[in-house]
Amino acid sequence: MAEDSDNGWRFRTRAIHVGNAADSATGAVVPPIHLATTFVQPGAGEWGRFDYSRSGNPTRAAVEETLASLEGGCGSLAFSSGMAATHCATMLLGAGDHLLAGRDIYGGSYRLFHHVCNRMGVEITLVDLQDLDAVAAAMRPNTRMLWLESIGNPLLSVPDLPALIELAHRHGCLVGVDNTFATPVLMRPLEMGADIVMHSATKYLGGHSDCLAGVLVARDRELFERLYFLQNATGAVLAPLESFLLGRGIKTLDVRVRTQSESALQIARFLEQHPAVSRVLYPGLESHADHERAAQLLDGGFGAIVSFEARGDDQTAKRIVKSTRLFHLAVSLGAVESLIEQPASMSHASYAAEDRVKAGITDALIRLSVGLEDPQDLIADLDQALRAGGRS
Ligand SMILES: Cc1ncc(COP(=O)(O)O)c(C=O)c1O
Repeated sequence: MAEDSDNGWRFRTRAIHVGNAADSATGAVVPPIHLATTFVQPGAGEWGRFDYSRSGNPTRAAVEETLASLEGGCGSLAFSSGMAATHCATMLLGAGDHLLAGRDIYGGSYRLFHHVCNRMGVEITLVDLQDLDAVAAAMRPNTRMLWLESIGNPLLSVPDLPALIELAHRHGCLVGVDNTFATPVLMRPLEMGADIVMHSATKYLGGHSDCLAGVLVARDRELFERLYFLQNATGAVLAPLESFLLGRGIKTLDVRVRTQSESALQIARFLEQHPAVSRVLYPGLESHADHERAAQLLDGGFGAIVSFEARGDDQTAKRIVKSTRLFHLAVSLGAVESLIEQPASMSHASYAAEDRVKAGITDALIRLSVGLEDPQDLIADLDQALRAGGRS
């Protein structure tokens, strides 16, 4: 539990020390990776701290302790992917329940809700989270969960999280926040009253494009126990090696996210004045509709994802994303390497075409994940790609 072990330390210290005590057997400052799947018990029917690795593993427990501390939750669970974590949260719902979700969500979450949860008898509605009246109107007596992203994907909207949490709780429904884009460095939704925080830890938490992982953090113990039951019953746990890689990535989370956010702001400003660009979406820009709210809710940075619309069409966007040299053309985000993609044909291809239009995801939209390279090199790379993209 975070509150037992964080010693009042600040975020960066906790990221390095909570869950990472030196190994008591050897003195190693990096704890060993426990690959064991089963553990010797004190007696028949008597259980030690660990018994079987699906139910609990020391390496996984260590990173779960770090994560609970960083998000300010009472317990955390590490999963084999972000989607496994989101799926576990939706298993709190049953036939006849209603799930209300933001319109600006990751394509895979859209697919899970509309093509898996619906088959379990859960009703799904998407709503524009910027319109609180519309959210209130979309609440039904059977609405059990509001699901949203702390920074929306790929349009970088920043919803009024405190107001949405208040509204949802008034209707007696749980609030689950996918905090992948903001990370606990920039926002801690549980401190604002959210019930569950989810991460695709594949992104910033791992930070190096080498570890697929997901996380849930619960605000209260009862909810944590229900989620633990579901995770253990269904089994999509994080393996020991990935748990170790995740814990190692988290140690540098704060410096990475803050530095990458500074670079993203420079890049967004560059794109804003570029003749080949018609629109830039970055909450750090004064021109972004949610800029003021983002400045209030985010802690000292605006994240490292920048979306923009190229002047032109689908083919222009396709040419640009193929022309960068440093930005790799790939889905995913949040790592030290910069990435570029076209959401309409890649990360958000699983949206139904009409929902993509409603969400404002045009064919000319391009999403950047700004990495840790020198921002001047990234700007030069984008400049040459934008010039190349304009030539048909
Ligand atoms: C915001 C967001 N949530 C959830 C996911 C799913 O996570 P994973 O790919 O680790 O299953 C992603 C993946 O891109 C994402 O970007």
